[in-house]
Amino acid sequence: MRERLLAAESVKSIEWADGRLNLLDQRKLPIKEVWLGYDSAASVAGAIRDMVVRGAPAIGISAAYGVVLAIRARTAGDGDWRQALEEDFKVLADSRPTAVNLFWALNQMRERLARLKPGEDPCAALEAQAISIHESDREANLAMAQFGVELIRRHQGNPQNFLTHCNTGALATGGFGTALGVLRAAHLEGLVERVYVDETRPWLQGSRLTAWELLGDGVPATLNVDSAAAHLMKSKGISWVVVGADRITGNGDVANKIGTYQLAVLAMHHGVRFMVVAPSSTIDMVLESGDDIPIEERAGSELLEVDGRRFAANVEAFNPVFDVTPADLIDAIVTEKGVVERPNAAKMSALMSRKRLH
Ligand code: MRU
Repeated sequence: MRERLLAAESVKSIEWADGRLNLLDQRKLPIKEVWLGYDSAASVAGAIRDMVVRGAPAIGISAAYGVVLAIRARTAGDGDWRQALEEDFKVLADSRPTAVNLFWALNQMRERLARLKPGEDPCAALEAQAISIHESDREANLAMAQFGVELIRRHQGNPQNFLTHCNTGALATGGFGTALGVLRAAHLEGLVERVYVDETRPWLQGSRLTAWELLGDGVPATLNVDSAAAHLMKSKGISWVVVGADRITGNGDVANKIGTYQLAVLAMHHGVRFMVVAPSSTIDMVLESGDDIPIEERAGSELLEVDGRRFAANVEAFNPVFDVTPADLIDAIVTEKGVVERPNAAKMSALMSRKRLH
């Protein structure tokens, strides 16, 4: 299946070329395909904060390249570049709080820095590390797609209806996606009747990004408002909800795009299976439970305005952009290391001690 999956890779959102980071501006999609270039850590942090690049793995990969840009600038100047670099790490770490992939990638870069040998070029070493983070995310996507398809097939081998939320595809990762990667692979294997796509208020990652990616691959897709989920599960014979994650804690609780938790509650009520697909870089074994995850709250204007024009009453808005789904509502967490069914703390520790299987 690997070769077919590689052949199906089409969209890219992150490009490292000639020592510069290029990002496809996801705020403009699908109306315009605009690439923006970045050459400093501060500007990369701004791109993450302002949603030019979004999706947990893509944020981590971009931050790693941000460190490469930073070390190049710092080592070109006078003084203690290691100390100066700390400021860049901080600026990047402060860009968004919930997706742990950001902090995971920064830690990987920091650890590589600590392993520098005497006389080794720090810029070249960190560039190689960032490229390896990017490449290994692509590989993880391929492994997860295969595990996810096996899981779907194990429960039912006929074409089925799926529901997904937010965007977890090529735009959100270094490869062709986590949850969307599984759905792409399931389509190639003839297991998809239709994918229902939650609009995903307020940034519309579903209607703008996921629908665009699925149509590009010829996957039958239908858009629905987020609040149609219960009705969909009752009336359209949905077999699986398949979503990504921004942070998974040691007990298997999952933070993901706001609205994911209610989907899991609804899925349990309707007997619909619930699958979370995420690389191990999204798993934070330091946090015991989802109660400890910092949940990003963004500006109320994201709810009150469209294209900078106010349409809502003069009311205060509450805009948390992630929520936490408790482990006991999840049928399976699919990672590149393998699948955890009915997750709990013991199963999550066992998973994290495994080597990659694919
Ligand atoms: O606010 P966003 O668009 O960065 O949120 C993205 C999500 O919630 C995704 O589901 C998650 O990051 C997984 S992406 C493979």
